[in-house]
Amino acid sequence: MPLLELDKVTCEFGGLRAVSEVSLHLETGELVGLIGPNGAGKTTVFNLLTGVYAPSEGRILFDGASLVGWAPWRINRAGIARTFQNIRLFSDMTVLDNVKIAYHNHVRHGVMSSILRLPTYFRGEQEIEDKALAFLSLFHLEEKKDELARNLPYGEQRRLEIARALATEPRLLLLDEPAAGMNPRKPGN
Ligand SMILES: Nc1ncnc2c1ncn2[C@@H]1O[C@H](COP(=O)(O)OP(=O)(O)OP(=O)(O)O)[C@@H](O)[C@H]1O
Ligand SMILES: [Mg+2]
Repeated sequence: MPLLELDKVTCEFGGLRAVSEVSLHLETGELVGLIGPNGAGKTTVFNLLTGVYAPSEGRILFDGASLVGWAPWRINRAGIARTFQNIRLFSDMTVLDNVKIAYHNHVRHGVMSSILRLPTYFRGEQEIEDKALAFLSLFHLEEKKDELARNLPYGEQRRLEIARALATEPRLLLLDEPAAGMNPRKPGN
């Protein structure tokens, strides 16, 4: 069974057909590029996959189940994470907190253990912090952990967005123009 299957997905905004009968299959482990000129509908496909828009027609199946009508948070819990063409970090939070928030779902200590400061709370918080730092180091951002996200240079904000998306531990990662605005740089330059 494919990890992701789109079957004749169409998305219309009023009279404008932004996406017209798109079908595709994606298997686990596959790395695929979605290419097309400006306005072709690439971002709209990502928005359909993450519950920002619902398709006017067609089916979207993730791991065999229909995602249509699900809220974005539920789609993320099911295993799809994304970045945005126009970066959308929590700009007034620190680099570390941006990633900690994303990992938060994976820790199972309840509200009561947080209020009562039980050992499970401290263990859970430590796990979140350790994991977030590991994701930051993957993108060479651990030394920036205490800076506000909005103060990072553009390229580092892009890397932080990918780190945040990965911290939700998705099975499918969607990167919308991850290299936009980046300069090609030769090693050593
Ligand atoms: N919310 C919306 N309401 C109305 N029209 C929209 C909306 N979102 C996208 N569109 C239109 O849908 C078409 C596809 O846009 P989309 O942003 O998906 O293209 P794209 O392939 O990502 O382009 P780019 O390469 O510029 O990022 C465009 O004509 C766009 O103006
Ligand atoms: Mg786009």
